[in-house]
Amino acid sequence: MKLNSYKTPKHVAIIMDGNGRWALKKSLPRIRGHIHGVQAVRRTIKAAKKFGIKYLTLYAFSTENWKRDEKEIKFLFSLLKEYLRKERESFIKNRIKFLTIGNIQKLPQDIQNEIKSLKKATSGFRDFFLILALNYGARDEIIRAIRKVLKKKKIGDLKKSFENSLDTAKIPDPDLIIRTSGEKRLSNFLLYQGAYSELYFTKTLWPDFDEEALSKAILVYKRRKRRFGGY
Ligand code: FPP
Repeated sequence: MKLNSYKTPKHVAIIMDGNGRWALKKSLPRIRGHIHGVQAVRRTIKAAKKFGIKYLTLYAFSTENWKRDEKEIKFLFSLLKEYLRKERESFIKNRIKFLTIGNIQKLPQDIQNEIKSLKKATSGFRDFFLILALNYGARDEIIRAIRKVLKKKKIGDLKKSFENSLDTAKIPDPDLIIRTSGEKRLSNFLLYQGAYSELYFTKTLWPDFDEEALSKAILVYKRRKRRFGGY
């Protein structure tokens, strides 16, 4: 699908939902949904780059996901580790800068090492930003930001100081937030930054998400009139 570049969202953030239901529908174990979810991640990054999106944020693991079965959590981390390793070459070749939001200090040490290493290897790029939300929760992010502000000797402009203390400092607010699988809620995702984001909900389950699905969301976004509280 071809899209003109007029009004292309600069930052798209996605709540990748429905891996488990995708697997259930096919009578497969839940983890197979996550495996296919990684393929959807690859397709979506490629498509986002093609459409001229600059920042893509993907909600991969929330502060609430720790409530899941230990086996599933372990599997998700092993998938993540494999992904961070395997994608290294592709990120470098495609000049993708890798960033994270969320409290990564609480993640297993080997994952932290992979994250650090990929960030370092891609730190010089500016063409496209892939931001993974890992152990991310907006409420947790806001509390951590407040703690950082309170530690400052001189706060100055409180709004600036607060925003610079969020995990998303230097990342523009998301223009469009997409949630797959038909659920219609934000689930603690970018609550401060998403104040004026356009919301798009699709019934497509995350493992089925592809270029066509992303282009549909962008087309809907382009038809919307953003007023930011004005006329
Ligand atoms: C939601 O589906 C998905 C997650 C909680 C994890 C997202 C993870 C991936 C897409 C794979 C790993 C990602 C990377 C970047 C390597 P769900 O399990 O909540 O589905 P359900 O609501 O149908 O049960």
